[in-house]
Amino acid sequence: MKDIPMLDLRLEYEHMKDDIDSAIRKCLEHQQWIFGPEVKELEDKIAGYLGVKHCIGVSSGTEALVLSLRALAIKLKGKEYFDRADEIITTPFTFTATGDSILRAGATPVFVDIDPDTYNIDPAEIREYLKHGEGRVVGIIPVHLYGQACDMTEMTDIAREYNLFMVEDVAQAFGGMWKDRKLGSIGTAGAFSFFPSKNLGGFGDGGMVSTADNEVAELARMLLKHGGKDKYNVDHIGYNARLDTLQAAVVLAKFKYIEEFNEKRRKIAEAYSKKLSMVKGIVLPGELHDPHYHVYHQYTIRVTNGKRDELQKYLKEKGISTMVYYPVPLHKMKVFKGRWKNYRGLQKAEKATDEVLNLPIEPLQQKGHTMYVAENIMDFFKK
Ligand SMILES: Cc1ncc(COP(=O)(O)O)c(C=O)c1O
Repeated sequence: MKDIPMLDLRLEYEHMKDDIDSAIRKCLEHQQWIFGPEVKELEDKIAGYLGVKHCIGVSSGTEALVLSLRALAIKLKGKEYFDRADEIITTPFTFTATGDSILRAGATPVFVDIDPDTYNIDPAEIREYLKHGEGRVVGIIPVHLYGQACDMTEMTDIAREYNLFMVEDVAQAFGGMWKDRKLGSIGTAGAFSFFPSKNLGGFGDGGMVSTADNEVAELARMLLKHGGKDKYNVDHIGYNARLDTLQAAVVLAKFKYIEEFNEKRRKIAEAYSKKLSMVKGIVLPGELHDPHYHVYHQYTIRVTNGKRDELQKYLKEKGISTMVYYPVPLHKMKVFKGRWKNYRGLQKAEKATDEVLNLPIEPLQQKGHTMYVAENIMDFFKK
């Protein structure tokens, strides 16, 4: 029986071994573990790649979100945190950190429903809330879920019309694009994650804030090191949220491969879609019509006949790992109880949690493995 994991980081390490080993060896030689030269080198490299003025290395994608929001609270309100009356609109169909960062920055998350084809936040739902909600919306956090851009033309228009800041959650979409812009370079700020399983991942936690805004950049840099320019005389309520030199070195070494690997992901997605297009009972990933570059952090099918869990079990028996991202929408989690708002139902997000299944998408996975996964899905629906 085959054993097909969601992702096999050992394969990736073997592929990049010389680059990674020499990057780590360099760190062992210089011993500058905090703010070593690799941190700045990575920041500069990614800023150039994204076409954005500032990139700031931080300790995780979660902290990248929190620091961006805290910096915006300080800049816009002149206060350390937002107030509960300040609302930030996002999707309930995302990783907890997106919504949790809003709570940690002192604001109230407003969850609006998703576009059921792309699973991303639906701009029409944002507009509905802005028309009918009674609160004071200050910002939006579009999440480029599974590696696909939100409709950034609409997002930008909405932000401009209503004078909102926009923090892009780019945790799953490094290298993704909307038209000719890299994701993370369009909003007021972008929050990236270098969690090991991400398209560009380190050997532990790490993240980055991107922004064109000088003040946000300066504040984020202060907040990540306890809240001051001077560590021993601080201005703000800060964090210890630096990006480790070692993680920066690993991410730098892997950065060389990002475009090649994103292309490989897209090829796997294409192969799945070709093979599975005739299967009744599933819906393949939907893409927006406007030009964009989907980096397929996940390849997600929707099982519409109520047999998602049965399919997952069947595939497991055939040695195929799959995941459900995400099984619980944020508004159903205890942590958000009594702490979030909406205008109307979130049924599309709820339905997605019952129906989605994420298939293995290891950039280096053999074609035969992709076909084996697809064939087993086809067999399941023939039963
Ligand atoms: C959409 C999304 N936002 C935020 C995060 C948080 O990133 P991290 O795990 O690096 O804190 C993740 C990933 O884990 C994510 O998938």
